[in-house]
Amino acid sequence: MKDTLIAFIGGGNMTRSIVSGLLADGVPAGRLRIAEPDTERRTALQRDFDVTVHADNSTTAAGADVVVLAVKPQVLQTVARDLASELAGSKALAVSIAAGVRSADLARWLGGAVPVIRAMPNTPALLGCGAAVLYAGPGATAHHRELAESILRAVGSVSWITDEMQMDTVTALSGSGPAYFFLLIEAMADAAASAGLDGGLARLLAVETALGAARMAIESGEDIAVLRRRVTSPGGTTEAAIGTLEQRGFRELVDAALAQAAARSRELAEQLGDD
Ligand SMILES: NC(=O)c1ccc[n+]([C@@H]2O[C@H](COP(=O)([O-])OP(=O)(O)OC[C@H]3O[C@@H](n4cnc5c(N)ncnc54)[C@H](OP(=O)(O)O)[C@@H]3O)[C@@H](O)[C@H]2O)c1
Repeated sequence: MKDTLIAFIGGGNMTRSIVSGLLADGVPAGRLRIAEPDTERRTALQRDFDVTVHADNSTTAAGADVVVLAVKPQVLQTVARDLASELAGSKALAVSIAAGVRSADLARWLGGAVPVIRAMPNTPALLGCGAAVLYAGPGATAHHRELAESILRAVGSVSWITDEMQMDTVTALSGSGPAYFFLLIEAMADAAASAGLDGGLARLLAVETALGAARMAIESGEDIAVLRRRVTSPGGTTEAAIGTLEQRGFRELVDAALAQAAARSRELAEQLGDD
């Protein structure tokens, strides 16, 4: 991995996070390159990470072992088609982190001979605690999977799926998921503030409770339902709240929300995949 030359196309938030994670993992700055059209952002990337930066995507990708495509989904087709000739004779692996773009579409835009791995990271990757899901697309070998995994692991956990259609459910769960938790935290804090608690304290308690619950879920390794039952004593306060949530259709609501997000993800993939 330390000898792998990695080129990032797009020097935005996600690239910043991954580069910073890779450097912390001991990857030499000399093995990382970033293409970024914005001059100020390019200068900042060079200054902050001491990596090679270019305005031009092909120059950045030339000779790279891995090309990480980290541009917005809407510009990925143009970016990939422009890179196709540079990558045609190379041995480079393309790793796309663009939401919603299917691997077969990307492989086609890259000319059909470039191995492709599709990744779905999520926003907490910006803090190094993301949850990414990867799918090995056309032409990707076990070696390519290892390369992609070691790159995404720099910003959190990595899991694999073998059916790309599941990427829509992953998008609905972990991709959009941070926002659901923000909404729940917001609603809990607002409810407590409406009941008279200081707004700042309500926010702090809601956030710390979310963090504590997530840590308990990870560190105990217990079934989530077991953890919930353990804090739900018969006739107690938690049971009163959980009972209200269940009776008023909380699970059905979450189910409908995820189904709606997955449907939207499928729709976007269709639109983005159009030639
Ligand atoms: N942020 C997340 O939490 C998250 C989560 C999951 C997936 N993703 C995916 O990750 C990708 C990157 O996200 P991000 O948050 O890092 O976005 P971002 O901050 O907007 O970064 C994209 C960068 O690419 C630059 N760019 C635009 N056109 C380009 C071109 N033709 N060639 C090279 N660079 C170009 C952009 O410049 P301009 O701003 O000047 O256009 C910007 O600096 C997206 O596809 C997104 O779907 C992000």
